[in-house]
Amino acid sequence: MLERADACSVFSSGMAAILTAILAVADPGQVVLRSRPLYGGTETLFDTLLATLGIASASFVDGVDPDAVRAAADEAMAKGPLAAIYVETPANPTNAVVDLDLMARIALEAAERQGVRPPIIVDNTLLGPLYQSPLDHGADLVVYSLTKYVGGHSDLIAGSVAGSAALMRKVRSLRNLIGNQLDVHSAWMLTRSLETLRLRMDKAFANAREVALWLKQQPAVERLAYLGDLPPGSREAEVTARQSGAMGATFSFVVRGGRAAAFKVLDRLQVFKLAVSLGGTESLACHPGSTTHSGVSANEQGILGMEEGMIRLSIGVEAPKDLIADLARGLAALEG
Ligand SMILES: Cc1ncc(COP(=O)(O)O)c(C=O)c1O
Repeated sequence: MLERADACSVFSSGMAAILTAILAVADPGQVVLRSRPLYGGTETLFDTLLATLGIASASFVDGVDPDAVRAAADEAMAKGPLAAIYVETPANPTNAVVDLDLMARIALEAAERQGVRPPIIVDNTLLGPLYQSPLDHGADLVVYSLTKYVGGHSDLIAGSVAGSAALMRKVRSLRNLIGNQLDVHSAWMLTRSLETLRLRMDKAFANAREVALWLKQQPAVERLAYLGDLPPGSREAEVTARQSGAMGATFSFVVRGGRAAAFKVLDRLQVFKLAVSLGGTESLACHPGSTTHSGVSANEQGILGMEEGMIRLSIGVEAPKDLIADLARGLAALEG
């Protein structure tokens, strides 16, 4: 209902939803065009299981640059028929933006070349379902890790796929075959969570803004990767204004001094818990390079804009002054 989709199916995890959605539309010998970075698990899924099954991929890092995306689409279609376009926006952990309207144009161009339009699948975990509606921008399937904001309490693992009735029939029959449905207890917990979704997301997003703007002023912080801090007039800012109704609460910052410095900061935090999930009421911090994205090589991480000193935060609903005081305590480890 929130996605304004014909139908939605829930799954035993976000990864179960993602894999089932891709397998429902892509066959061995076909190719998926994908944005990068994706959530580390999805990156690894494409590079291992899907590749082994004969579903290849081609990728682009700059999802707002039509030339870069077209070049990747050419590369994909040189390998085989384009089965789908799979994107995550904003991306975990860099907040890289993918232009959904551009993806819709690329899908139509592919349809002209190969006679079949590849469906567009969007991982909407970071802003949806209240603040970004990919189906309104030409997407066909929206996937979620409901474990995150929708669940919201770090006490359930679930995923979903939503879209047109025709595509969802395929998704649902594959779910029946694989048997990766959601258990009834978690389904009940999700209905409880939906009651407070807007309250939690609004508070977390407002907190994130305060924390991010404070971080930006800190000398130890080299770079902020937050949707609310995109250069005015940039393509990313224009796309974000067009397709996203909020700036999110999962973002990253880079400290001077690389991985060792990032670890020093993380070790001092007391209010932020060190954990790799996101979207819960409690604030979490992690070093994505060695945790969520440890399956991506160091060289590839560099290409994806993940510096060694990158720390990812998932801001919760606590008092923002406590979160800022905690980060100040962490950053103090880098003084002197
Ligand atoms: C953007 C995104 N998509 C998908 C997933 C995978 O979800 P799950 O942990 O529910 O399998 C995650 C998990 O961190 C995520 O952050």
